[in-house]
Amino acid sequence: MKASTINTHAILSCRNVWKVYGPEPEQYFVHGEPSGDQAELAARMRRDGHIPACVDVSFDVHKGEIFVIMGLSGSGKSTIVRCLSRLIEPSYGQITFEGVDLLSMSPARLIEIRRHKIGMVFQSFGLLPHLNVIDNVCFPLKLQGLPLAEQRTRAQRVIELVGLEGREDNFPHQLSGGQQQRVGIARSLAVEPDLWLLDEPFSALDPLIRRQMQDEFLRIQRLLKKSIVFITHDFLEALRIADRMAIMRDGRIVQVGTPAELVVNPVDDYVAEFSRDVPLVRVLTAKDCLAPGSKPASLSSKDGVPMATPLEDLLPKLAAHPRGLVVTRPDGQTTGYLNSLSVVAALSRKADQPGEPDKAQAGLQR
Ligand SMILES: Nc1ncnc2c1ncn2[C@@H]1O[C@H](COP(=O)(O)OP(=O)(O)O)[C@@H](O)[C@H]1O
Ligand SMILES: [Mg+2]
Repeated sequence: MKASTINTHAILSCRNVWKVYGPEPEQYFVHGEPSGDQAELAARMRRDGHIPACVDVSFDVHKGEIFVIMGLSGSGKSTIVRCLSRLIEPSYGQITFEGVDLLSMSPARLIEIRRHKIGMVFQSFGLLPHLNVIDNVCFPLKLQGLPLAEQRTRAQRVIELVGLEGREDNFPHQLSGGQQQRVGIARSLAVEPDLWLLDEPFSALDPLIRRQMQDEFLRIQRLLKKSIVFITHDFLEALRIADRMAIMRDGRIVQVGTPAELVVNPVDDYVAEFSRDVPLVRVLTAKDCLAPGSKPASLSSKDGVPMATPLEDLLPKLAAHPRGLVVTRPDGQTTGYLNSLSVVAALSRKADQPGEPDKAQAGLQR
């Protein structure tokens, strides 16, 4: 199969990546490329006693976005996110980070990149039990060889960012799960990474704490604007957090798109099943509800709403402005307008039938 072209504008590009576990995974890639139909090849691997954990995975992560990979347990999420920093070696494929081929990088350069450019957070927190909070956060800075005073200043800054000031001298066992994960987050941010990888960071936490941590995470992201790959098995968490998301099943990515695209146009029954009970007011935004045609002269741009405004926040505004609202882009320019009719139309657009298979990779930027 011909590899898709790498997108050089993305901070991270992943093309046709395979990871096969088992006794002899190399046998499938001896001729350079996995041949024939990818699904059939994966089925053959399974029959032969191999586990194709990632099957022909392609996606881009854009600068400053939160890209969520969502899928059930065992669908290959941890494998792919570990391939992104080469904690796991892919069996086949191409990964570029900031335009540089990650897979042909020397071990020394790779260590350099992991230490300075990539931050990771794990579900199990991964803290060092014999170190207190500040020493845990300083740990990666020590590996970088930063002077002690600078380690402390940086660590203190991120400890405050995650709301743990006052707990610097506590050891991990003295902290709740949520607090321990705040330490994990602070530690990964201390290196000021360009790419932030989070593998189910909130899955071990109670639902209420999880919700709080999601809010905190979004607050931190509004401040830092990192490029993020966030893994979760929780569809609602994905919808809350994602700018764009990918759904994984049995090692494959079955759909990539914005939360609204996935809910309104699920590519198959599998994706549709996740979104079946999701209220559209929670996923649609102003830009999904635009009215056709150009803005009536009677609508004033001073009552404009940003295109990313969630529908649930729009409804009270629309009630106060029954003639409609102007919708603006991040640069403040008008992109269109919406009114009650266009909102109702958007709400009734949800397909009764699953979409066409060719929409599967609709969100993939080539
Ligand atoms: N080191 C390994 N050796 C063999 N099989 C593995 C290994 N790691 C993961 N797997 C298998 O690969 C598949 C994907 O696992 P994983 O990436 O951990 O999924 P997820 O993170 O979505 O739960 C599963 O079938 C799992 O059992
Ligand atoms: Mg996992």
